Amino acid sequence: MTADGFTTVARVGEIDDGGVKLVRYDETPIGVFRLGDAYYALEDVCTHDGGPLAHGIVEGDQIECPRHGARFDIRTGAALTMPAITPVPTYAVRVVGDEIQVGPQGAATTATGAPAASRDARAAAAMDEKPGPVDKPAPSQQEVAVRAALENVMDPEIGLSVIDLGLIREVHFLPEGKTFIRMMLTTPFCPYAPQMMEDVKQATTSVVPQPCEVELMADPWSPDLMPDPGLLGYSF
Ligand code: FES
Repeated sequence: MTADGFTTVARVGEIDDGGVKLVRYDETPIGVFRLGDAYYALEDVCTHDGGPLAHGIVEGDQIECPRHGARFDIRTGAALTMPAITPVPTYAVRVVGDEIQVGPQGAATTATGAPAASRDARAAAAMDEKPGPVDKPAPSQQEVAVRAALENVMDPEIGLSVIDLGLIREVHFLPEGKTFIRMMLTTPFCPYAPQMMEDVKQATTSVVPQPCEVELMADPWSPDLMPDPGLLGYSF
């Protein structure tokens, strides 16, 4: 470790654009992310339930927790959607020669060495940059109520709920008074899909009485999207 508290964790070129490397800084697991030419370091912990975060889905400058789907801003650590409300701790990153170095917590800098704005300002900026109503964080009470109701909607083929299977990927409450849900299926062309979508709609409207639209995602499902893959006998 250098005198100013930095330690080399990777070489330039080692992390793909949009990729992440899991490293340790002072015994703390850290995900070092690359977005374009910039690097960011977040503690490998989801502030919702303490699960590992770095191997979640990276979309643009956001990462989605593989357990219950909370999204965080990779650049700031800010929690963007439920069920997380607390930011993930950030660490400083700098590039010296071809070495990527991680430094003390909280002093977030990018690879260019430019100091980041304060956490509040960064979180506010992240909110301002949101592209549209679909990406706005859901009101917590409503989303919690919807997810609780969906625990009773079963995938008849597997015998687990759509929540246990991690099929409900996004829940949004649109300003025009509509609930919008994006869900996956465990297998493409699942014969139970129409019934499950209808059940999701009914369970949702039973707790949030407004029109509900359910959209099927084409993305392939895998057990690591489940909050507890152990329910299917997997461990990650
Ligand atoms: S542990 Fe990450 S959303 Fe629950």
